[in-house]
Amino acid sequence: MKKINDQWFSVNRSLGEYDKRGMKMSYGTKGLKGEVTVPGDKSISHRSIMLGAIAEGETVVHGFLESADCISTVNCFKAMGVDISLKGTEVRIQGAGLYGLKKPEGVLDTGNSGTTTRIMTGLLAGQDFDVTVNGDESIRKRPMGRVIDPLTLMGAHIESENGNGCAPLRIYGSKLKGISYVMPVASAQVKSAILLAGLYADGETVVMEKAASRNHTELMLKGFGADVRTDGLSCRVIPGRMLKGTELTVPGDISSAAYFMGAALIVPGSEVVIKNVGINPTRDGIIRVFKEMGADMELLNRHFEAGEEVADIKVRYSELKGTTIGGSIIPALIDELPLIAVVATQAAGTTVIKDAAEMKVKESDRIKLMCDGLKAMGADITPTEDGMIINGLSSLHGAEIEDEKDHRIAMSFTVASLIADKAVSLKTPNCVKISYPGFYEDLKKLM
Ligand code: S3P
Repeated sequence: MKKINDQWFSVNRSLGEYDKRGMKMSYGTKGLKGEVTVPGDKSISHRSIMLGAIAEGETVVHGFLESADCISTVNCFKAMGVDISLKGTEVRIQGAGLYGLKKPEGVLDTGNSGTTTRIMTGLLAGQDFDVTVNGDESIRKRPMGRVIDPLTLMGAHIESENGNGCAPLRIYGSKLKGISYVMPVASAQVKSAILLAGLYADGETVVMEKAASRNHTELMLKGFGADVRTDGLSCRVIPGRMLKGTELTVPGDISSAAYFMGAALIVPGSEVVIKNVGINPTRDGIIRVFKEMGADMELLNRHFEAGEEVADIKVRYSELKGTTIGGSIIPALIDELPLIAVVATQAAGTTVIKDAAEMKVKESDRIKLMCDGLKAMGADITPTEDGMIINGLSSLHGAEIEDEKDHRIAMSFTVASLIADKAVSLKTPNCVKISYPGFYEDLKKLM
């Protein structure tokens, strides 16, 4: 276990005794102050490599997220013969074209990345070679049936080697046919796997969702010149066109920005500006929920870059109230739910998170880890089948937290540790490198 907050105790502890709600505080009131620029969006970074790899000509990516997950994607495509060069956050990909990927020598290692595993499986289903995809311990527990099933309907031949519906996956390159598919779970990874397989099918493929999941694949496919048409919750890909290499700039990741939003909202005295954050409406659920909870937040300098809206987000410490989060907003904030649980401990009244059973099959069982950890810190939180119920306001205490190497659990408890009265320890704090290698440094800059 490593103590996570002893380094900022000296900055943030015990200046004022009561906050404006009259709560006794055992931590500081200096607050988080200043500006922070979060790294590039993880979902868009993954897709920039995959689409760049199967396009014709060069793709140049600015603002690429250099994190362990995205590097897993880079390495998989390098292993399939794609020339990819990384210089900091700039990436150049010499596209191999739709039919130019080569059979890799060994297993494609997707590390901890569900996005790489699932979306790439769609892309590999229609190749003219066989390949095995595998990842770390967490990946080998995550459900892959959700991509195997629709891809099988398209004519793919994919075997879960251990017969448990999880990786390792043996993918036998096959001739694919177009399908019309209603997705049983809202998942951008599944949707994207089907759409990319659709590029290789002999007719058009239509995917229909029950609630809108992130639409980066659709937007980016259009940017690369593919024939993709969206209509409400349905998306159609018409194969036959080559993808053309392009130049794109990745916006800051709202899922990373969320930790600073949450931190500023709960540490008294805070005022933080998070620069250049992607606020795509399929991703902005966190902003909508925080505003609903009474957050003092402003979106400044709104503009579009490469088809994605970006803004600077100004957040101040706020008196929050509980809310109910469920239904169609869930996919728009799925990765932010652990952080919302932390913030809800500092909101008056009850917060209910429902329709979020997907949390259980992320990098860890996030319902269990958040409830166990926050309870250990003194919060009033109860797990449910599809979410959790949190009664605020609670004073948070020191505790030892099991993070199961889940980056979002580690960052959420780091935010909680900012207002804890004693040391909070995490099992593997450096797992933040999965999506945000500089997280602790950026947080410290605000102190
Ligand atoms: C992602 C989709 C979401 C999200 C994940 C990234 C993507 O997963 O949780 O972090 O890039 O498509 P699901 O598709 O499983 O909802």
